Amino acid sequence: MADQYAQSGEDKRPSEIPAIRWEEPPEGPVVVLLDQTRLPAEEVELVCTDASALVEAIRSLAVRGAPLLGIAGAYGVALAAVRGFDVDDAADALAGARPTAVNLSVGVRRARAAYRAAVAEGGDPAQGARAALAAARQLHREDAEASARMAGHGLALLDELLPGGGHRVLTHCNTGALVSGGEGTAFAVALAAHRAGRLRRLWVDETRPLLQGARLTAYEAARNGMGYTLLTDNAAGSLFAAGEVDAVLVGADRIAADGSVANKVGTYPLAVLARYHHVPFIVVAPLTTVDAQTPDGASIEVEQRPGYEVTEVSAPQAPVTGAGGGVPVAPLGTQAYNPAFDVTPPELVTAIVTEEGTISPVTAEALAEMCAGAGQGGQRS
Ligand code: MRU
Repeated sequence: MADQYAQSGEDKRPSEIPAIRWEEPPEGPVVVLLDQTRLPAEEVELVCTDASALVEAIRSLAVRGAPLLGIAGAYGVALAAVRGFDVDDAADALAGARPTAVNLSVGVRRARAAYRAAVAEGGDPAQGARAALAAARQLHREDAEASARMAGHGLALLDELLPGGGHRVLTHCNTGALVSGGEGTAFAVALAAHRAGRLRRLWVDETRPLLQGARLTAYEAARNGMGYTLLTDNAAGSLFAAGEVDAVLVGADRIAADGSVANKVGTYPLAVLARYHHVPFIVVAPLTTVDAQTPDGASIEVEQRPGYEVTEVSAPQAPVTGAGGGVPVAPLGTQAYNPAFDVTPPELVTAIVTEEGTISPVTAEALAEMCAGAGQGGQRS
C-alpha cells in the first residue's frame, strides 16, 4: 500500500533531496519516496508499506532512473522480508517492474542474496530481513560514493577534452540527485563543473514524452544555481549547428558487453548529431549499469510505454481527460510509438565515465577489463 503526504522542501539543499529513504515508524517499516511524477509543482512523498506499492511506484515513474531503481529494488526486498511477505515473490515482481535498467535487477539480486545467505547460515527470517536491509543500505552508500567519483573523473575528462574551460554541456533526461544515492551520474559531472566555475551553460533537453528534463533536470539545475536553458528535443540539431554545444553528457540504463548504451529515448539522435558536429559524446554510469551478460545493443530489451503518454499531455485542470488522465493532443484512437529508451552503438560514444575511471575508446575489451578489476558487471544468481 502507498500513502501520500506533502511536505515543504524549501529549506533543503538540492543534494539533500531525499529521493528515497527507509523509515521505521511505530506502525512498521516503510520505504519513503519523493514522488517524481509530481515535481516540480509539489514535493510530495509516497510511503510504501509493501513491495507491491513499490512496484507500482516504479512502473508509474514515481521512482526512476537506473541507479535509484537499483536502490529501490533492494529496499523493496528488505521491506517484503521485514514485513513477513514471500521474499522470492516480491523480488521477482520488483525485478520485473521495468525491463531496461539493469540496476533494478542488480539491486534486487543483492538484497535477495543477502537474505538467502543469512537464512542458509541458520538464521531465522528476521535475521534474513536484517541482512537484506543491510545490503540495501550498503548499495545506497556505494552509489553515493560512485557518484562522487564519477563526478571527479568526468570533470577531469571535460577539462582534458575542452582545455579552454567555459563548458557548454547538453544533457538529456534526468541524471541528478533524483536518480541516485548521491548527486547522480551525468548531472553530477555538470554540477562539479559548475562548482569549479567552468560550466558556462547547461542545455537541458525537455525529454518528451514524460519531460524528465523539463520537470526534473531544470528543477535540480535551478536549485543548484546553475546557468541552464531548456530546449525542446527537436531544437538540439539547430543548437549544434549554431556551435553552441561543447559536449554531451548523458547517463545510461544498461551498457551491453560491447559498449552499446541504452538510455532515455532521444539519446541516440544526440550521439549522431554529436558525431556529425565533432562534439564529444560522454556517457556517465556506475559499473552496476554494465551488463556483461547482454552481449550487444540488439539484445537489450527496450521498454515500450503506453501510447497515451504520447497522445496526451497531463494537466490536472483539464476539461477532457483521456485514457491516461491527460488532455488529448491527438485524435482519439491514435496509435503511438513510445519506446522509453534507445540504444547508441559504442562507435558513437567518445567515452564512458565510471567510478573506476574513464574508458575511451569504448571497446568490449576495455569495458570487460574495468569490470573485472572492480569485480562488477552482470553477475546473475
Ligand atoms: O524512464 P526513466 O526516467 O527511468 O529514464 C531514466 C534515464 O533514461 C536516465 O538517463 C538513466 O536512468 C540514467 S540516470 C543516471
